[in-house]
Amino acid sequence: MDEVLIITGASRGIGAATARIAGRSGYAVCVNYLKNKVAAMQIVEEIKADGGHALALGADISQEEEVVKLFRAVDDKLGKISALVNNAGILETQMRIENMDAARLNRVFLTNITGSFLCAKEAVKRMSTKNGGKGGAIVNVSSAAARLGSAGEYVDYAASKGAIDTFTRGLAQEVAEEGIRVNAVRPGVIDTDIHASGGEPGRVERVKASVPMKRGGSAEEVAKAIMWLLSSESSYTTGSLLEVSGGR
Ligand SMILES: NC(=O)c1ccc[n+]([C@@H]2O[C@H](COP(=O)([O-])OP(=O)(O)OC[C@H]3O[C@@H](n4cnc5c(N)ncnc54)[C@H](OP(=O)(O)O)[C@@H]3O)[C@@H](O)[C@H]2O)c1
Repeated sequence: MDEVLIITGASRGIGAATARIAGRSGYAVCVNYLKNKVAAMQIVEEIKADGGHALALGADISQEEEVVKLFRAVDDKLGKISALVNNAGILETQMRIENMDAARLNRVFLTNITGSFLCAKEAVKRMSTKNGGKGGAIVNVSSAAARLGSAGEYVDYAASKGAIDTFTRGLAQEVAEEGIRVNAVRPGVIDTDIHASGGEPGRVERVKASVPMKRGGSAEEVAKAIMWLLSSESSYTTGSLLEVSGGR
């Protein structure tokens, strides 16, 4: 039987690249999206055209009832999940802290932190051997920002990724005996649409000089690291934070 994988925020960027590789690697893939159904359906069609098995499901991962519905729909349509990539994440316009209001902070923390917790909760309920499951793997998509702090750009976003790092370490220990591995990737500057949300679509070009490898990364380069952490090739790796950042 296929391994069943949910990737949150897989309609574009790193999530979409991971979905394509996972589809080719034999996973049945749930391509979750927030608004962009057309793009998510396109990823599903590409996976199917390659002989894979995939399904697009919309859900706002920051909302508990939508997360519960998403996981139930995957139970019914693809089967019990064995893998989760907590990829969906947002950042908002670059600014200093003096200009950040509570509404913005709550939006960023709700999607990036609460959303990842809620999805991990539903995954552990299904995967844990303690709950009658067969184990599995969770990969959280953190960021090099968790180390760097993103001063003058978005310290709120960076702090949300710091929370994801701590969550990764803690959850990994909590469920290690129950057949579940939990790891994170920390991408650096990656060429996706997320930088436009910060108000600087050309950010990769500006920042690349500060990267020891002198370039931004691609979504596929991050996706390959995620796939390794999901696979049995990393069977003794848990609680790890894997840098995918060109040395930055
Ligand atoms: N790109 C980078 O340089 C970089 C660096 C470090 C870490 N990361 C992290 O990598 C992850 C993916 O980033 P990306 O660059 O690929 O971003 P992206 O191109 O902006 O794509 C974001 C994805 O998340 C989805 N999404 C947003 N809010 C959601 C919600 N509440 N519920 C469900 N889905 C939601 C979007 O869906 P719709 O298309 O439907 O709106 C989209 O599929 C994020 O966690 C980000 O923080 C990125």
